[in-house]
Amino acid sequence: MGPLSHPEPDALKELIASELGASRDRSLGLTTGVLDVPDLTAQVSPLMSPLVWDLAHVGNYEELWLLRAVTGADAIRPEIDGLYDAFEHPRAERPSLPLLPPDEARAYLAAVRERVLDALPSVRFDTGNPLTGGGFVYGMVVQHEHMHDETMLATHQLRRGAPALLDPPPPSAVPDRTDAAEVLIEAGPFEMGTSDDPWAYDNERPGHIVDVPAYFIDTEPVSNAAYHAFMEAGGYDDPRWWTPAGWEWRNFSGKRAPAFWHRDSGAWLRRRFGRTEPVPMSEPVQHVCWYEADAYARWAGRRLPTEAEWEKAARWDPDAQRSRRFPWGDTYEEGRANLGQRALRPSPEGAFADGASPHGVRRLIGDVWEWTSSDFHAYPGFRSFPYKEYSEVFFGPEYKVLRGGSWATHPLAVRGTFRNWDYPVRRQIFAGFRCARSAGEGA
Ligand code: AVJ
Ligand code: FE
Repeated sequence: MGPLSHPEPDALKELIASELGASRDRSLGLTTGVLDVPDLTAQVSPLMSPLVWDLAHVGNYEELWLLRAVTGADAIRPEIDGLYDAFEHPRAERPSLPLLPPDEARAYLAAVRERVLDALPSVRFDTGNPLTGGGFVYGMVVQHEHMHDETMLATHQLRRGAPALLDPPPPSAVPDRTDAAEVLIEAGPFEMGTSDDPWAYDNERPGHIVDVPAYFIDTEPVSNAAYHAFMEAGGYDDPRWWTPAGWEWRNFSGKRAPAFWHRDSGAWLRRRFGRTEPVPMSEPVQHVCWYEADAYARWAGRRLPTEAEWEKAARWDPDAQRSRRFPWGDTYEEGRANLGQRALRPSPEGAFADGASPHGVRRLIGDVWEWTSSDFHAYPGFRSFPYKEYSEVFFGPEYKVLRGGSWATHPLAVRGTFRNWDYPVRRQIFAGFRCARSAGEGA
């Protein structure tokens, strides 16, 4: 998915119109007809916006970029810009703002979209303007809406009360895996990032060569069963496994299990979108923070992979001596990964074997975002584009990089080069991890 092959302008415009439609259907499907006004305007957690904020924010972002920036149009409702500027108002403040009520937000979104589609036929992609070249800014707006849709799913998950979303069947289970638990990735250089993916973000650029020492990486994300073994072994109570900051988090937060888990007469249950069920032991663990992932890895005699190790395992094709866009190849293919909210959960161990990388590493794309050991930094030669507040203002040691997308990530909003980031304490995102070790060390 995405315009890798630089299609003709008309084909690209068709793709853009259909992807704009798909992301909008998804946003409306998470808000309209599934929740009433009080649920749309309430704040379920200070970590999240009211859903009606996300909804109008994606419309405002679309207006700023696809109308004002591309066509030079005047603001439709200039007085609302400040309300939906994520930097003016942190999430905790948003419920107290005079936000557009749900019906007005939907009318605003529709008005923006109508003008965007009216202008699309006369937009030129070939003027040497990097904003519109290859349809970049359209790809940016579509990806932005899908990211907020994933954020809205996190809000749904935190919400108390009766289930609002349909729960489609889980991705099909597959017989027990028989392959190795980890694979060796030989030492050597690979291309990290990209210089030619037209809808890639500034932080994925430029492509550059990184020489990675030999390492082993898990073929699957760490499962609930494995994480449960860490809990049973007293992992939360042994300071040897925790960094000083992680131990402080453990003491201060009081957490002793992944978010949404609770124990009921000896059995571990989880709450998932308003339904309670036994924790499925063969699914990847999710809703653990970076400190928990890091502690688990140390308990297991291993460590989190660096971002470069994750990406080399996901993209490097040793026979062709080049990096792929996805583990299985250069184009998105249905059925190779658990993406796009097809199921409201990760898939069990052994699933999506057809999505394995050339080294046989599975489920790198989809299922759960994977914490890496790396802080979020610019690649050498980074240039901010088209605005500093997407990536640049977040570079630094406070954020950890996550890779690979989750079951909630749309296929258009993830690829082998895609970089996500969050604070090491965050647990509401659909994140888990896999482990690695340097070759010649550890168990
Ligand atoms: C890339 C997911 C960290 O949600 O904070 C949304 C994406 N940027 N609106 C976020 C984003 C602007 C961002 N992440
Ligand atoms: Fe945003």
